[in-house]
Amino acid sequence: MAEATKLFNQAEPPDDARRRAEWLRQEINKHNYYYYVLDSPIISDAEYDRLLRELMDLEQKYPRLVTPDSPTQRVGAEPQAQFRTHDHTEPMLSLANAFSEEELRAFISRACRMLKIPETEQLEYVCEPKIDGLAVSLTYVDGIFTVGATRGDGYKGEDITANLRTVKSIPLNLNRTWELAEKSERKFPIPTFIEVRGEVFLEHEEFRRINEDRSEKGEPTFANPRNAAAGSVRQLDPSVTSRRNLDMFAYAVGYVEGVTLDSQYELLEALRFWRFKTNPEIRLCSGVDSVWEFCREFDARRQALTYDVDGVVVKINSRRYQEALGSVSRSPRWAIAYKYAPTQAITIIRDIVVQVGRTGALTPVAIMEPVEVGGVIVSRATLHNEDEIKRKDVRIGDTVVIQRAGEVIPEVVEVVKDKRDGDEVEFQMPSNCPVCGADTERAPGEAVTRCIGIACPAQLAQRIYHFASRGAMDIEHVGPALVEQLLNAGLVHDPADLYYLTLDQLMSLDRMGEKSASNALAAIEQSKEAPLPRLIYALGIRHVGERTAQVLAEHFGTLDKLRNATEEELSAVMDVGPVVAASIARFFVQEETKMVMEKLRKAGVKPKEVTRPAKEEAVLGGKKLVFTGELQTLTRDEAEALVHELGGTASSSVSKNTDFVVAGERAGSKLAKANELGVKVITEEEFLRMVGK
Ligand code: IVH
Repeated sequence: MAEATKLFNQAEPPDDARRRAEWLRQEINKHNYYYYVLDSPIISDAEYDRLLRELMDLEQKYPRLVTPDSPTQRVGAEPQAQFRTHDHTEPMLSLANAFSEEELRAFISRACRMLKIPETEQLEYVCEPKIDGLAVSLTYVDGIFTVGATRGDGYKGEDITANLRTVKSIPLNLNRTWELAEKSERKFPIPTFIEVRGEVFLEHEEFRRINEDRSEKGEPTFANPRNAAAGSVRQLDPSVTSRRNLDMFAYAVGYVEGVTLDSQYELLEALRFWRFKTNPEIRLCSGVDSVWEFCREFDARRQALTYDVDGVVVKINSRRYQEALGSVSRSPRWAIAYKYAPTQAITIIRDIVVQVGRTGALTPVAIMEPVEVGGVIVSRATLHNEDEIKRKDVRIGDTVVIQRAGEVIPEVVEVVKDKRDGDEVEFQMPSNCPVCGADTERAPGEAVTRCIGIACPAQLAQRIYHFASRGAMDIEHVGPALVEQLLNAGLVHDPADLYYLTLDQLMSLDRMGEKSASNALAAIEQSKEAPLPRLIYALGIRHVGERTAQVLAEHFGTLDKLRNATEEELSAVMDVGPVVAASIARFFVQEETKMVMEKLRKAGVKPKEVTRPAKEEAVLGGKKLVFTGELQTLTRDEAEALVHELGGTASSSVSKNTDFVVAGERAGSKLAKANELGVKVITEEEFLRMVGK
């Protein structure tokens, strides 16, 4: 149904519902502020949940009551196909750096010279912790949050509004009817237009939680909180961002109308009054000596903070002076970032070992003479991958400089080559997995070397869990917790072992009663007849996702035919490129794979064979479709699955062989390409009609 018709059919909310919703929004926003910004809630979680639940119920009953600033809108909107670009009204500048006291003092002397004021004058400076996160710009029109964007090149960024809406410390509406009980503060008008700038970041604890979660799922972990924040903010699915608990400190303003701010300190006061979160460590200093004193003293304290700070941003306070100084090559002349050097130390590499992650990624790790860096004893440092080792020419026995900054994993910066005596040994990436002995493989164009063993213990939990998961064998009751228990009890060593479990074995596990055990067994039994595409997908062959598994099943019909296919035969299958073909072929020649396949067969796993509808009978028989833009009723995956089901293929790029391009909203270059090539373009509605939906 078109959006307009949907709204038309909705009930007009009565006045009391409208008033109640407005009151609830304000009330919830107030408690959000107490919780997420002041970090001191004044009601219980249960009371808060009650308010939120009441608003959600009201909005569900009267969808017209949903406003963009409603706290219910923070959970994350529908996924997007891509980000739009956003033009900053005023450019987002970057900062020049100072790496020493001299450089910091030189910056201040230069500013004083340009302002024609004696250096002895005690100018005011605002010293702010330099948060190691990601700069964003938030636009408010008449107090309503309308656009949130990344910095991009300073002029154009990416529109990440839907993601930033999920950040709880970002106010969605600056107009409010509540005041803080215990605080008398300076009041500021609500600007008619304002770009607020700040830093989005992740607290250490949240960073660790995300990484733990990712490694449990077999996904690559983030190297540091900054990368994790950047990755979270640039998610196409805002509901993922909403689960990442990002935070933001506001520290600057771009273009603004409707309020004048005479100094940086006043600007920070105004931001606080508008209920943004500002950093509590910020100090107003008088004179360069007190700035330097702050930088020194803060270095010791920053280690204890719950987020990464990599320096101090020193800003000349007066707006008049700021304007007089202006900016040069995209950096203001009135501010500088004093950067703390990452803490370094010198030690010797005793060995280089290889760690196998849950996804099979091999990471070389330096084992070093233990040494203290930034208050912590360190004896291991990551060497990232083969290319990094080559680039830095790191050898076993080398004396190296290592460093650690914030939550960053310790790393080797450089080799002290003068210390070499010729006995150093070059490192070779192993061609067999150090854990299970299967082949390792480095795909062309990738930096990571991986173990491809299906029974590799290092990846086993992930492999077995994937095997049982939805979309794969879909074995209900066999989730990550049970897999972990089974592995710990030594009851499974590969995915096929699931089919050899007995009731007694399952009941011997903690918290497992007879009922749950027999449910799990029944689900395992039932999965023996899963359709072939799901079994292929369940094997966890690199590069073989659900779609490719479907294509392979349709092409080969049986597992045996697929297993015996040569690389050339695999390459000849539509949608299967050479990289995927090579990966499949190598997978099936591994001894471990052969053993697991045999065990599956003996257990009676007999996937249902696939018969593809005859081409001419299927609705989209042999047709090639490309989707572009945002679809309204289907996700991209659903649309593509539908095409497949009906005998067609969905591909991601338009060529003259494309039969139809289905253009959703805000379709971009693919639509243009279709028009250029004269490919037929249809709307989502026409597509649905065509497939009889
Ligand atoms: S002010 C014109 N204040 O540092 C001034 N930046 O190297 C623009 N940053 O892009 C920035 N904390 O991402 C400012 N308190 C702070 C900051 C800060 C972190 C980041 C920001 C900026 C980068 C410049």
